[in-house]
Amino acid sequence: MTNTGIAMIGSGSATPPVSLDNQRLSQIVETSDEWIASRTGIRDRRVADPQTSLCSLATAASKQAIAMAQIDPSEIDLIVLATSTPDDLFGSASQIQAQLGATQAVAFDLTAACSGFIFGLVTAAQFIRTGVYKTVLLIGGDILSRWVDWSDRRTCVLFGDGAGAVVLQASECDRLLGFELRSDGTQNGCLNLSFQAQPQPLIDQITVSRGTYQPITMNGKEVYRFAVKKVPEVIEKALFRADLTVDQINWLILHQANQRIIDAVAQRLNIPSDRVISNLANYGNTSAASIPIALDEAVRAGKIKPGDVIATSGFGAGLTWGAAIFQWGI
Ligand code: ACO
Repeated sequence: MTNTGIAMIGSGSATPPVSLDNQRLSQIVETSDEWIASRTGIRDRRVADPQTSLCSLATAASKQAIAMAQIDPSEIDLIVLATSTPDDLFGSASQIQAQLGATQAVAFDLTAACSGFIFGLVTAAQFIRTGVYKTVLLIGGDILSRWVDWSDRRTCVLFGDGAGAVVLQASECDRLLGFELRSDGTQNGCLNLSFQAQPQPLIDQITVSRGTYQPITMNGKEVYRFAVKKVPEVIEKALFRADLTVDQINWLILHQANQRIIDAVAQRLNIPSDRVISNLANYGNTSAASIPIALDEAVRAGKIKPGDVIATSGFGAGLTWGAAIFQWGI
């Protein structure tokens, strides 16, 4: 009989070596360590230099996850890369497939901003549930420093670069206990990294648009309000589907956007702070990478143990948000 349960059997993460702390950032824009730390909890972030590509970070994270899972790259059936900042708009997952030597894997990109890892997890899970694929590599990675307006202090202090990866495998026991995904395009204008068209007349009546993507714009207050309201709701929905209650959660891993959001969500759900994982102080908001990086660090530190129940939620541009409840390990 085909196993159609899902187990998460390996994790990895990678961040660029260059760090940019609040002190140094305050030499670029008018801000201070005190302002950034008290409003967001962020003290440092990593930024990719021009030699560091999204593929190189994603590949490094993936190699760690593959090693922990004790599999050979040729066993991977599917690679899902959750990113909003691919090296190539046609997709970067295939380059990672080549760099890993995952010769049997089909690979594609998936975009859902800071919800990308959760949306990717649920997407990958469907292929395992249906018995189509056995082994999936899921990567969340972003280099938002490429798309930040470094003269806008309202946004440039928030983001950092990195990648995280997990290996999912078909298993007799199903460790993905519940999930819920949501989108609300009516609030799309809250957070954007939009293409701005420059009309270019070609011939006769035909004009096409050239141009490029404009730096990130954000309505911080709206995003904050949205996250604090919607994230607890979506976690409760996922818990309901898992037939679990809040007190059965060992760890809460939220998208690392802002410590005040993390604290407010934990408080609303009545989850004590010693069960909340946060590494935002060191990395800022790494978008699709933030959950798998936090997960990987907690697993490697021995905090998260096999069988622990993890509630996780991503939220961000789209607007999109989602939650998944799963148990770590086989
Ligand atoms: N340093 C110093 N002062 C600043 C800075 C800064 N870096 N940024 C803004 N200010 C100033 C503003 O200019 C403003 O001054 P004014 O009153 O003289 O105009 C004052 O600080 C307050 O600004 P607000 O924008 O009202 O600050 P707020 O308290 O809302 O905090 C923050 C801003 C931290 C961004 C908050 O709104 C927030 O956390 N929102 C959520 C954002 C988020 O998590 N986004 C990521 C989502 S995930 C994704 O998909 C990418």
